[in-house]
Amino acid sequence: MVQTPIFRLLYVSTASASAAVALHETMRAILLVSDANNRRDGITGFLLSDGYVFVQLLEGPERNVQACFSRICADDRNRTPEVRDAGPATERLFPQWSMCGLNLSGRDNLLLRPGNIGFDLLGAAPGALLQHLQTLVHYHGPALIQAHAPLMRASV
Ligand SMILES: Cc1cc2nc3c(=O)[nH]c(=O)nc-3n(C[C@H](O)[C@H](O)[C@H](O)COP(=O)(O)O)c2cc1C
Repeated sequence: MVQTPIFRLLYVSTASASAAVALHETMRAILLVSDANNRRDGITGFLLSDGYVFVQLLEGPERNVQACFSRICADDRNRTPEVRDAGPATERLFPQWSMCGLNLSGRDNLLLRPGNIGFDLLGAAPGALLQHLQTLVHYHGPALIQAHAPLMRASV
C-alpha cells in the first residue's frame, strides 16, 4: 500500500482579545470544526493555548496541511501566526487525535519548566515546543480522551 508522505507544520500565534476572553468557548468551537475537517483531510495534531498564545502542530498530507494553515491565518480569532517548523516527517506525533486541544493551566506550566519553556510559548524553540506537547499528552492522556469524547460525539 502506498502511504501519503506526512508533512508537519508547527506555528505559534496570539489569541485575539475576544478569543482570549472566552477561551473555553473559543477552543470548543475550534475543536468541533477541526475534528470534522481534519478527519476529512487526514490531519492530526495538537492545539495548545495558555490564554494568550496558541501553539498548534498540524500533521498530514502537505497540501491539506497548507490549506488548513491558510484558513487559520485568515481567522481573526488569532493574530500573526508564525511558522516555527515545517517539513516532511517520518511519522505522526499524535496519530490518534484529529485535533487534541488543551488549555494550559498553572500546574501544566510548572510541568513545562524542566524543558526550560516556562511560560514563554512564543519564544520557545521548535524542538522544545514539540517535546512539550508530547509531555502534556503523556501527562493528561486519559483525562484528555474523556474530555474529548462528548465533544466529538456532539460533532457527528
Ligand atoms: C488557533 C486556531 C486553530 C485552528 N485549527 C484548525 C484545524 O486544525 N482544522 C480546521 O479545519 N480548522 C481550524 N481552525 C479553524 C479555521 O480557522 C477555520 O475557521 C475553519 O477551518 C473553517 O472551516 P469550514 O470551512 O468548514 O467552516 C483553527 C482556528 C484557530 C483560530
